[in-house]
Amino acid sequence: MVHAPHPRSSRSVLPSVAILGAGCIGLSVAWRLAAAGCSVDVFDPGEAGRGATHAAGGMLAACVETEPGEESLLPLTRASQALWPGFAQELEEASGLSVDLRTEGTMVIALTADDAAKVRFLHGFQRDLGLPVEWLGGAEVRRREPYLQPGVAGALFCREDHQVDNRKLAAALIRAARAAGARIHERCDRPTLVTAQGRAAGVRVGDVTVSADRVVLAAGAWSGGVEGLPPVAKPPVRPVKGQMLCLRMDARLPLLRHVVWTPGTYLIPRLDGRLLIGATTEERGFDDRLTAGGQFALLEGAWRALPGIAELPIEESWAGFRPGSRDDAPILGESAVEGLIHATGHHRNGVLLTPVTADGIARLVLTGETDPVMRPFAADRFAPQGAAA
Ligand code: GLY
Repeated sequence: MVHAPHPRSSRSVLPSVAILGAGCIGLSVAWRLAAAGCSVDVFDPGEAGRGATHAAGGMLAACVETEPGEESLLPLTRASQALWPGFAQELEEASGLSVDLRTEGTMVIALTADDAAKVRFLHGFQRDLGLPVEWLGGAEVRRREPYLQPGVAGALFCREDHQVDNRKLAAALIRAARAAGARIHERCDRPTLVTAQGRAAGVRVGDVTVSADRVVLAAGAWSGGVEGLPPVAKPPVRPVKGQMLCLRMDARLPLLRHVVWTPGTYLIPRLDGRLLIGATTEERGFDDRLTAGGQFALLEGAWRALPGIAELPIEESWAGFRPGSRDDAPILGESAVEGLIHATGHHRNGVLLTPVTADGIARLVLTGETDPVMRPFAADRFAPQGAAA
């Protein structure tokens, strides 16, 4: 059975769009395109907003996470970071739901003299890139975060690296996309890309095909395994496992206000009293089991920085899969199959890169233009030298 896209009356000049993947990337693209008047269908084998979107920490850390060798990502991450306040406000208005954007900033703390040498190096590197980072002495760090370990030696601080509650973000995107007219199809049995005469033509689930002028591949770590993808359009994406856990603070007397990085671990305090601790980085395919070693390393790292966590109840532990590409940068834009657009491979930065990806992919669908900031991230960078992608 073939379903044409739903009738669009005056909107009929706009392309119809099918989106594979209902994480923050697929949903935000759906929201933007549906709001622009496109007929939009989103397909996911699971529940919308789960996957890496549910598992993430929601850090919007374009600056403090930049390490040597990652400079080429900065124009994209900084562009998205700048979009975040307006994006959050617009999304909250469209959905009626808060996404808890917190703007206290992020610290990378040094607990020992050895840590301090490493963090000072990072500070110098990021400052030389022109990023808004500053060095705080130990006393100033303790003044801002009194429950940190008393011997804290200092910290790199970035006032522009914020955080958002990624689970609230997912809920708001689902609501906003639906309100704009997007149809979100959850728990689909093996959504399959349909091609006709060499171009993307829609998505099939069971015996139902929804035809579409454009298909957006936004299936995160699962993107390479989507059925029906011609080999030439399979993005080189693998799952990079991250274990996390969450403790419960007293929301009226939180132990922490800033996002804090400490060697091997980060801590993210939420407005509702949750304290997230993340994350391991493991190459174990789609094995989602929690390990004693992984959970121990997270708890030990967090406890060294913030000894008061010893008293807090553990609320939840989980593992998620970052979509890592061959160079760990996202894959954005036209693919080797006409009509199929990649929006995947966001690795550690899916939530941060949501606004710039949503705007860039929507622009590409609506106008055929590639945002210059997105251009370096097309899939053809992986094509063998001299070969067309
Ligand atoms: N962006 C943090 C992480 O991937 O763990």
